[in-house]
Amino acid sequence: MSVYQATTSAPVNIACIKYWGKRDTKLILPTNSSLSVTLDQDHLRSTTTSRADTSFDKDRLWLNGIEEEIKDGGRLATCIKEMKKLRREVEDKNSNEPKLSTFAVHICSRNNFPTAAGLASSASGFAALVSSLAALYALPASPSQLSLIARQGSGSACRSLFGGFVAWEQGSLPDGSDSLAIEVAPQSHWPDIHALICVVSDDKKGTSSTSGMQRTVETSPLLQHRIKNVVPVRMEAIKKAILARDFDSFARITMQDSNQFHAVALDTDPPIFYMNDVSRAIIALVTEYNRVSVENGGMLKAAYTYDAGPNAVIYTPKENIKDIVSIIVKYFPQAEAFKDPFGLFGAQGVGEG
Ligand code: DP6
Repeated sequence: MSVYQATTSAPVNIACIKYWGKRDTKLILPTNSSLSVTLDQDHLRSTTTSRADTSFDKDRLWLNGIEEEIKDGGRLATCIKEMKKLRREVEDKNSNEPKLSTFAVHICSRNNFPTAAGLASSASGFAALVSSLAALYALPASPSQLSLIARQGSGSACRSLFGGFVAWEQGSLPDGSDSLAIEVAPQSHWPDIHALICVVSDDKKGTSSTSGMQRTVETSPLLQHRIKNVVPVRMEAIKKAILARDFDSFARITMQDSNQFHAVALDTDPPIFYMNDVSRAIIALVTEYNRVSVENGGMLKAAYTYDAGPNAVIYTPKENIKDIVSIIVKYFPQAEAFKDPFGLFGAQGVGEG
């Protein structure tokens, strides 16, 4: 008897231009395009094994060893259904292909990063789920085509189908067929950029991205200005900066966009606070570090960015990492600089939320 099984993995990505708002909540179509950096190819990954077998009576999924319910019509069910649909197309074209689309699947997913890093795992998780089913079903699909399905699991997941610098183009078609991820540049184009993660708190966030962004769409006037007038200009400018390896512009735009994302969260009714005092203190440190460099005739050396939580991600050219870690450890003496077994640089326990 043949065994139909495939294992693949997908990395975490951190946005420089933030996705925040949906124009279609079922298809997960965003109100603006976004752009991210996929973190190192070997670290911070979700690894997923999918297996199809005639003896399975229903689709099941385990996340870090714990079974998750696959709710009818939910995001997991949608992704699995869409992947089976693509498999059916392969089977319809070639009648010799085993009818895997009719078998139930069992899916096992694990994250190789410490849960304490407080990083959202839905992006790497859904990207790994979709890519493992694509491998199981031997689909002739490109990463951009797969991103259309990963997007329906979690918006930011569509960007994790590529390494390096990735744009999620919002698209305009009502069926979402042009709302997909594209590669702006591979990691090898600019390998000098590193991400330093400062774990401020590993508590589960108070307001989830999904519900928070919906409330922002419904109540924030500032969001309307952001999506019409700000993001389109920034998307073009940051792509240009990446292609030119212009860290100064890349850093400026990344910090401005993080700030505006947190401003629209604050402009939401009732307001949403993702950063805390420690997050803001790290912003002050990076700002001061950059100010000293610029005053001495240099350029910006580091860029902070924050997602829907208090933890900082600092993008910086490799030469500055040691410097920045030692500054953080100096100002937050309880912080422990670590280089974990996966080679992830970070500062843990920077402060409590
Ligand atoms: C702040 O992709 O988690 O990290 O589509 O509802 O699953 P859903 O939301 P999600 O939102 C991510 C928001 C963000 C910004 C970003 O990654 O672009």
